[in-house]
Parts: sequence; C-alpha cells; structure tokens
Amino acid sequence: MPAQKTVLILGANSDVAKQAILLYVAKGYRVVAASRDLNTLEAFIVKHVTSIDVIRLIYFDAAAFADHQAFYDRLEWKPSIVLYAAGYLVDNEVALRQWPGTLQMMNVHYCGAVSILNIIVMDKSNTELGQIIGLSSLSGVRGRKSNFIYGSTKSAFTQYLAGLRQYLNSRKIKVNVIVAGYIRSKMTAGLNLPESLMLEPEFIAEAVVSASRKFVIVPGWKWKMIHLVLKLLPEQLVAKLP
Ligand SMILES: NC(=O)c1ccc[n+]([C@@H]2O[C@H](COP(=O)([O-])OP(=O)(O)OC[C@H]3O[C@@H](n4cnc5c(N)ncnc54)[C@H](OP(=O)(O)O)[C@@H]3O)[C@@H](O)[C@H]2O)c1
Repeated sequence: MPAQKTVLILGANSDVAKQAILLYVAKGYRVVAASRDLNTLEAFIVKHVTSIDVIRLIYFDAAAFADHQAFYDRLEWKPSIVLYAAGYLVDNEVALRQWPGTLQMMNVHYCGAVSILNIIVMDKSNTELGQIIGLSSLSGVRGRKSNFIYGSTKSAFTQYLAGLRQYLNSRKIKVNVIVAGYIRSKMTAGLNLPESLMLEPEFIAEAVVSASRKFVIVPGWKWKMIHLVLKLLPEQLVAKLP
C-alpha cells in the first residue's frame, strides 16, 4: 500500500530532490530526507509540506563512508525506493589543478554512492526494497575536454547502476538512471548555460517519480536528441565539442 512505503532520498537538499520530496509525499509515500544541511531542508519542508509526520530528516554525508552502515542501521523506516541525488561540481580547469575538488566529486558521485547503495541492497531483510534511482548526467556519456573530470565520475556512477540493475534483477528490484542535461539549480547558478536547454528541477523530479522499467531516462526531448547524437558521434567529432 503506497501510504506504508518509504522513499529514502540521499542528498535531499538538492533542488531536484526537494521537488521529488513534494511529489512522493503527494503520491502517499513516507519520505526519509537525508542531507548534510538539515536546517535548510527543514525550512523547505515546513514551508511546503502540511503533513510533516510522513517525513523524517536525518544527517547524511555521502563522503563519510565510515558512517554509512550506522546511518542505515538508524533508519526507522527502511526504504522501498532509494533516490541518490547528491552531487558536487568543480570547474574542470580548477579540478585539474586542485586535487581536493576532484576527489570530492569522485567521493560524492561514485565512492559515496557505491558505499551506501551496497549497504542498502545487501540488507536482504528489507524485503520492501523495490527501486533505486540515481541522478546522473549527460556529461558522463562521452569524455569531452571541458568537463571530463565531473563527467567521468558521473560515468562511473551510471556504470555502477547498470551493473547493479543486472545484479538485482532476480530480486525484482528496479534500477533507473536519470541522465539529465542542464538543470536550473544551485549547482548551475552563475554558470553561463544556454537558456533554451535549461530544465526545471520540478521537471526532472517528475521523471524521477515516474521512472518505471526503462534503465536510462533522459528527461526532455531536446536532451533525448543530444543524448542520441552524443552516443553515436565518432571520436574525432566529439573532440571538436567544447
Ligand atoms: N544541475 C545540473 O545541471 C545537473 C545536470 C545533470 C545532473 N545533475 C545531478 O543532479 C543531482 C542533483 O543536483 P541539483 O541540480 O539538484 O543540484 P544541487 O541543488 O546543487 O544539489 C546537489 C546536492 O548535493 C548535495 N551534496 C553535495 N555533497 C554532498 C555530500 N557529501 N553528502 C550529501 N549531500 C551532498 C548538496 O547538499 P548540501 O546542500 O548539503 O550542500 C546539494 O544539495 C546531482 O547529482 C547532480 O550532479 C545536475
């Protein structure tokens, strides 16, 4: 029964994740919103959700791997659905020169995701677990000179989810990856991106909550076309892209 089912959102202070919280609550789910910034998240929830008894807030740092098992064990409601939304962006030129930013992207998009998702899926006592959704990026589809460090961490995340989907198939647990283009969010604030390609967090959140059997979900028809072209483009043409 949907009212009894729980969605765990990791990196719940993301602008996309916050919209997903509202949509899941509207669909009758309980939500465990896990974030480093519980004050901001609480203010958002108090403002936008009337039935706050269906939401729990819990501290979660994707890069604090040593704490992940205790984090999972503390969950009062074990999840039916898990959304991994944590993300961190450092400019490619900065990342090339400053290792901490590069490492943090790896930790947030890949190591942290693998650490916590491994713990979640290996808890076979949680027979409710039915779906895992990851927020990944078109920048992980082909290595391009302007953003290959962020992109490679997203690519690793996407490949992990692809294998996880196969691994969990016999347990009938669905795995989806949202391969998103540009989203108007905290992450892209201040970046000079083409307005015609910007997608709203609400739109991406809709794609999250409606994710079904398909593994790769590319929200927006323009980004679907870009995704297709990117996948087919010969390497010498990818090299001409920014
Ligand atoms: N924006 C885009 O154009 C775009 C495109 C494709 C994919 N994506 C991906 O979509 C996801 C959502 O991003 P968004 O656009 O909604 O941006 P956002 O609002 O900046 O959300 C990213 C969130 O990740 C959280 N986070 C960062 N490091 C964390 C950590 N160590 N532990 C826990 N949470 C952490 C941040 O939490 P704090 O509030 O605690 O800092 C932030 O709220 C990300 O995975 C992002 O990479 C974004």
